[in-house]
Amino acid sequence: LDEGYQKTYQNFDELLPTLPPRKGWWLDQLFQYQGFWLSSFALRGDMLVNDHFKPRPTDIIVATSPKCGTTWLRALVFSIVNRNSFDFSDHPLSKNNPRELVLFLEGVIYSDGSSSFIDGLPSPRLLSTHLPFSLFPKRMTDDSSDCRFVYICRDPKDVFISKWHFANKLRAKELPPITLEEAFDSFCQGVSHYGPFWDHVLGYWKASLESPKKVLFLKYEDVKKQPADCVRKVAGFLGVPFSPEEENKEIVEEIVKLCSFENMSNLEVNKTDTKDSANLIGNSDFFRKGEVGDWANHLSPQMAETLDQITEQKLKAGIKQL
Ligand code: A3P
Repeated sequence: LDEGYQKTYQNFDELLPTLPPRKGWWLDQLFQYQGFWLSSFALRGDMLVNDHFKPRPTDIIVATSPKCGTTWLRALVFSIVNRNSFDFSDHPLSKNNPRELVLFLEGVIYSDGSSSFIDGLPSPRLLSTHLPFSLFPKRMTDDSSDCRFVYICRDPKDVFISKWHFANKLRAKELPPITLEEAFDSFCQGVSHYGPFWDHVLGYWKASLESPKKVLFLKYEDVKKQPADCVRKVAGFLGVPFSPEEENKEIVEEIVKLCSFENMSNLEVNKTDTKDSANLIGNSDFFRKGEVGDWANHLSPQMAETLDQITEQKLKAGIKQL
């Protein structure tokens, strides 16, 4: 451990026991920190980012609340930014899960007990995060500061169902499955990984209005409906718009096809499930249905209404604060 890291770890060890804990949806406990429910892993990651991450103007951060389309957005951003480096017929995304190409910030900031790995990554660094916008240091979030965020949100009803399936896949075998009702109460109360879900969304949404050059706000449903337009939007935001020549060559369509659920979920690399100690989650765990509206197969009308009401109230409150 380098000295700076040692200090952060010490602060973390002192802070953790002072935070209110709640049971997580799988193994983890969650701790309430600055308004959000984080695992100890995420909290330590956040503290390390605050103390040690050195942003660059070229950094691109894929930000999501879990289950909103992280895997998809990682793939899209990677293929947009690197479109001139690879052939679509022999693409890194055909052999790697997107998480191997767009590394998880809270995870890689740990590696080898110093920031040397993350400091050594070549520019432009593509990183992903689940951390709420407000938990990043000012040097990353100020309008004048370096680095950009691409955020994707999704209908909370689909997020909840996706999360519930995911939690039951990851839960230790000796534990009974978490029931839909138990997970639902917890989600509605805001107690879920990086939750409350709505506060996470509102944080990035406000930032995208206040700093449109720094934060791009996308919706899963829009990307599903008009993927090509969204790819163009992301490219424009990142300062690498498609040229007329690229449009003629239908590069946008190539990217859409490469990153589609149908293509990605059928790749060998995303079907195999080797879970080593570093990867508690298998590649295939990130692909389930990839649809809009699957909630209707699981939620009672009453549950759907409750979630819609919370969403409406939270959004109204959020708009008032603008
Ligand atoms: P479902 O559980 O509703 O199917 P994340 O990547 O943030 O963990 O989110 C996972 C969700 O995104 C899952 O939703 C998964 O099926 C879906 N997904 C994964 N890859 C996708 C893709 N290429 N296009 C659309 N959805 C995708």
